[in-house]
Amino acid sequence: MEFLDKLVIPQPDYNLNLLNYFLILGLTIFLAYSGVLFGSMSLSVYFRNKSKKVTDNNAKLSRDYADLITDSWIYSFGLGIVPFLSIIFIYTQLLHKQPVAIVSYLTLAFLFYLVSVLLVHKYKKSLHLSQLLSALKNKVTDSEEVSAEIETLNDSTNATKGMTGTWSVILMFISMWIFVGTVTFAMNPDSWWHGNVLTVLFSAASILKFLQFITAALAFTAVSFVFRNLYWDAERKNYTEEYSEFAKKINLWLALASGLFLPIFIVLSLFIIPKTSLNPQIFAAVTLSLLLMLVILQQVYLVIKDNKNSYIRYAFYSFIIVFALMAFIDKAAFSVGNRAHVLVLDKEYKVHKEEFLASLGIEAAPINGGEIYTGRCAACHRDEDAPTAPAHKNIMQKYLDQADPLTALMQFIQNPKPVNPKWPPMPNQGLTPQEAKAVAEYMLEKYSAKE
Ligand code: HEC
Repeated sequence: MEFLDKLVIPQPDYNLNLLNYFLILGLTIFLAYSGVLFGSMSLSVYFRNKSKKVTDNNAKLSRDYADLITDSWIYSFGLGIVPFLSIIFIYTQLLHKQPVAIVSYLTLAFLFYLVSVLLVHKYKKSLHLSQLLSALKNKVTDSEEVSAEIETLNDSTNATKGMTGTWSVILMFISMWIFVGTVTFAMNPDSWWHGNVLTVLFSAASILKFLQFITAALAFTAVSFVFRNLYWDAERKNYTEEYSEFAKKINLWLALASGLFLPIFIVLSLFIIPKTSLNPQIFAAVTLSLLLMLVILQQVYLVIKDNKNSYIRYAFYSFIIVFALMAFIDKAAFSVGNRAHVLVLDKEYKVHKEEFLASLGIEAAPINGGEIYTGRCAACHRDEDAPTAPAHKNIMQKYLDQADPLTALMQFIQNPKPVNPKWPPMPNQGLTPQEAKAVAEYMLEKYSAKE
């Protein structure tokens, strides 16, 4: 995306790390909201197809699903479209200069999403209109002309209702599949070089993650339905006893069934994270989400058993945390994989800053080779050979023997190549030429003095 790349501002690594936290926030809001939107629309279309006439329970359930989180446009905008755009911008920033199409895939998913959301709102309107028209049709009996008019309008509303509902679900399905697939793809930088749209959609990892999303979406939709319509807004909704039981039963069983599958997917998703990216925080997040799933299932069970709708609120709040944990796991896996690249971007920022200061005639702050060495190299390079890296005193002679030790050392530091199979290759530390020069000078001084 050439156009988005122009918006990228060089950032130091602490800002890039901050972006990672915005990514968790964005993913949590977006996935929780879109999960319920997708779940409620699919169920609405399902029950609309099941209903025989607009007054039966299935038809009412279909309308209630369609209304679940679509009260106003602002919701779809603030909880769906804005977070989606922010996620795209964050990936653009974090992956700037990486030759992968992640941002293009996300943009494609966004276009599908946008059309789908438009259709959702049209669908919702036509559902209610069709209910209204049927009621009118029975009332107006004195004028043939008017009832014929109502009849035509009713037919076209029914057609709109059928078309918009089905297409909004299909488009949302495609959009979320691309979205979830791309976020999964981004977690594994090794696959970037040979990956393409097919990897994004059909790799085992993507399919697993997408199934996890669908299961979470259905479970959270069902919990949200009970939470909103039978607890939070129960008085305003004023359901009949019979309908209330009907809707409650369907949703609680749906919550139990899909809630039982979700933990399996959460555990399986550990296996698709590259081993090098696994860390204790990811394990902690998985454990915590499994515990919360237990809480959710228990509360749902209690609502069924004790018939106390108010328990559902614990399940609802816990579920939001589960979504945050799932977003955290995805983000953690992505940022470990992308860490080396963040250093490269950090370097770009520093070069940019130096150029900018120079253009103003300001001397950049003096660079201290010793400080950089302690801060950036000493973590791996100890006084003696360590599993992380060789001790510098043992490899420096090679450089000191060369005609131009400084240049040779600077070259390695800025662009490390594998040397000794005893150690893993050294990761690029993303130093600017000036910094590399300062460290190299520092090292040459330190180690030639020892002789
Ligand atoms: C993440 C750990 C790590 C960090 C941080 C690190 N290095 Fe290394 N470095 C290594 C490893 C591992 C090797 C051995 C690579 C090999 O033999 O292929 C190495 C090798 C070297 C070598 C020897 C290359 C040769 O020709 O044998 C130099 C010089 C060096 N590092 C300089 C630095 C400097 C300067 C820094 C700080 C800016 C730094 N390293 C930071 C892991 C690290």
